[in-house]
Amino acid sequence: MTTDTTTKDTTVGQTVLDARGVTMRFGGLTAVRDVNLTVNSGEIVGLIGPNGAGKTTFFNCLTGLYIPTEGEVRYKGTVLPPKSFKVTAAGIARTFQNIRLFANMTVLENVLVGRHTRTKEGFWSAVLRGPGFHKAEAASRERAMELLEFVGLEKKADHLARNLPYGEQRKLEIARALASEPGLLLLDEPTAGMNPQETRATEELVFAIRDKGIAVLVIEHDMRFIFNLCDRVAVLVQGQKLIEGDSATVQGDERVIAAYLGEPFENAPGEEEVAEVEAAEAKAEATTDAAPGKENDR
Ligand SMILES: Nc1ncnc2c1ncn2[C@@H]1O[C@H](COP(=O)(O)OP(=O)(O)OP(=O)(O)O)[C@@H](O)[C@H]1O
Ligand SMILES: [Mg+2]
Repeated sequence: MTTDTTTKDTTVGQTVLDARGVTMRFGGLTAVRDVNLTVNSGEIVGLIGPNGAGKTTFFNCLTGLYIPTEGEVRYKGTVLPPKSFKVTAAGIARTFQNIRLFANMTVLENVLVGRHTRTKEGFWSAVLRGPGFHKAEAASRERAMELLEFVGLEKKADHLARNLPYGEQRKLEIARALASEPGLLLLDEPTAGMNPQETRATEELVFAIRDKGIAVLVIEHDMRFIFNLCDRVAVLVQGQKLIEGDSATVQGDERVIAAYLGEPFENAPGEEEVAEVEAAEAKAEATTDAAPGKENDR
């Protein structure tokens, strides 16, 4: 009888991304401070925090754009090389907060460029369309069209990227990122500038990506999107991780409400207390207004 100790089940819940003690300093400014974060296979993890909290900087540390001042980042157990194309080749793909497409290339060509880490033909071959490119093109083109279909852009394959509406440009960035066949996808504000319908569609798209076996780490300011989507959410405030937990835990945490959300959610704990404080303040103000000598204080 043989015993198979390498069944596929052992990979379920495997740690895909393991960032340990990541710190990024720019001169005197510490943009990211000692952040630990893991993403497991099959997970969608959210990263939220106010403007300037260090979210994009953290992504840049994960993808080799920045070399962290301290700490290390592992992908499937291996420390990542400090070069973005090597990180992509290792299996991490990303989209950018400020869309970065090749505006004068077609939609299909943009996705084909995204495949360059997975084909023998390199980046320039894809751009210059030399003889080698044409040989390798058929298989790549088929995969690229599959991906365009997956994000709902197959009918626009021949359009120039710059002519796509904003929401579709974001989808195209996702298709291009998927073209490198990643095990982990990082999305930096994928719904920024989208209308509610497009945001809903993006939510479905991210679920579909997860269902394909790709782990997802997503930055977003749209809380409804984040809390609907994510298995876990981490909150960055001034470069530090304030809390990490499931949506309910994070949504209900008073420090998060205070530091990030500004105002409590509907039915959030503490709402009654806030109302009480506001009533007391209004009462105090009315009393002060009526107090003698008030006019002279102005
Ligand atoms: N290359 C850089 N050089 C110097 N400072 C930087 C650099 N990149 C980011 N910063 C600073 O680091 C801090 C974090 O910026 P970051 O863009 O990571 O924030 P963020 O959480 O992504 O914000 P937003 O939600 O607005 O996108 C900010 O104070 C920013 O000015
Ligand atoms: Mg950002």
